[in-house]
Amino acid sequence: MRTYSHNATLNAALRAFRQSDQTIAFVPTMGNLHEGHLDLVRKARQLCDIVVVSIFVNPLQFGANEDLDAYPRTMAADKEKLFSEGVQVLYTPDVEEIYPEGMAAQTLVHVPELGDTLCGSARPGHFDGVTTVVSKLFNIVQPDIAVFGEKDFQQLSIVRKMVADLCMPIKIVGVATGRDQDGLALSSRNGYLSLDERRIAPVLHATLNTCREAIACGFDNFLQLESHARMKLLEAGFEPDYFSICDARTLRSVTEATEEIAILAAARLGSTRLIDNVRLTLNPVSDWGMLADGR
Ligand code: PAF
Repeated sequence: MRTYSHNATLNAALRAFRQSDQTIAFVPTMGNLHEGHLDLVRKARQLCDIVVVSIFVNPLQFGANEDLDAYPRTMAADKEKLFSEGVQVLYTPDVEEIYPEGMAAQTLVHVPELGDTLCGSARPGHFDGVTTVVSKLFNIVQPDIAVFGEKDFQQLSIVRKMVADLCMPIKIVGVATGRDQDGLALSSRNGYLSLDERRIAPVLHATLNTCREAIACGFDNFLQLESHARMKLLEAGFEPDYFSICDARTLRSVTEATEEIAILAAARLGSTRLIDNVRLTLNPVSDWGMLADGR
């Protein structure tokens, strides 16, 4: 595995792969790699000849009161994991390489609507930071394919929209959320949880699943389901940011045109903010008919 910290040397190495007609899959990360990230790497390996992983803790996507300084940095362990997975290229730029003129002078990429709701309203500026750094990384790496986790479902939707709107010639591939045995979605932030919080944390996924089952059984009062779920989370010790049943494509309210429902939640447990989601495909004819009848 070759590691590069500068765009110029990375470009030269990637040009050589492209000239020999090798396809490139890209997995952008902020490090502190766990099995969930390695699932993305494995998918990337299945799809392309060369796998490029970036590790860059992007300050532009953290709010003033968020955990940028505390964000776990585990470069040596991360390198070992990527090496064992057969990754050929690791890109580890520093902040000056990505934002040479500083972040205030940086041109921003903003995806309206999808980027303004849910985590977008709870964390103002967050998705502009994500889409800006992801566009820069895409331009630097110029991959054929880029792989993202479905745990960050809103992020994945926003990146897909950005790529479509800006005609970027990159295929975006989503990978199912990796989970611990008790259902907790794998996340770098799980490491912040105390033992007691770790015991409570799976309630988030369980609550999402209960809601999904209720909808699958025909319960169609979504406001009631959302408020019931928020109450369950509060009772368990969470402070919910949102619990939202929405159209998986628009991330807005479910309508007659909805083909897939996404149920997304973000909630704080102590000082740790956890997010998770589940989805439910509707049979456009019979399922919507069932919901519309109110049965
Ligand atoms: O999902 C993440 O780890 C980050 O948001 C990403 C996509 C690497 C951009 O910094």
